[in-house]
Amino acid sequence: MEIKKLFPEIEEIGNEELKNKVIKALEKAINIGGWNEEDLHLIPFTLLIPELIGKNSIPKISIIKHIRAVTQMCIATYERYEMLGIGDKLNKDELIAGGLLHDVGKFIEYERDKTGKIIQTKDGKYIRHPAMGLELVYEFDLPLIVRQAIVFHSKEGDKIPRLTEVEIIHRCDFLCFAPVKQIFENK
Ligand SMILES: [Fe+2]
Repeated sequence: MEIKKLFPEIEEIGNEELKNKVIKALEKAINIGGWNEEDLHLIPFTLLIPELIGKNSIPKISIIKHIRAVTQMCIATYERYEMLGIGDKLNKDELIAGGLLHDVGKFIEYERDKTGKIIQTKDGKYIRHPAMGLELVYEFDLPLIVRQAIVFHSKEGDKIPRLTEVEIIHRCDFLCFAPVKQIFENK
């Protein structure tokens, strides 16, 4: 499976070592989850919007598309910060890596039941993807920003001071959730 083709935003990471770690982490999660390339597009980005699942169990927004959209929003935010003259206050590579990996745990939080439906695993229900993701990437010794993006991008991080890059990832992730939920529920 060509991870760079699935997530072209990886090429925006300048640091080769970090880029390779991101590829390896995504590859590991997808392999442990037991997904093939075709399956990946059948995983909804959330199970909290039932309307997201269309006919033939094909989600209207897959986890792949969600991760790419969040990462692209992070890149766009970085560019706006550059326009404001504060781009240099952000670690661009780690912001992008964090965007790409924030939901890495979802590949193991979800599984397919016998009917082909995507459901949450038992670990997923009781540990959730942020902690599962952090556990999964332990061996790669990722920078603090990227590790915090994985474990505290979601509600788990609401009582923790988020690093600036993680604050951006958290908000981009939410932009790809709350209004989307509204759009699908209002239909
Ligand atoms: Fe997300």
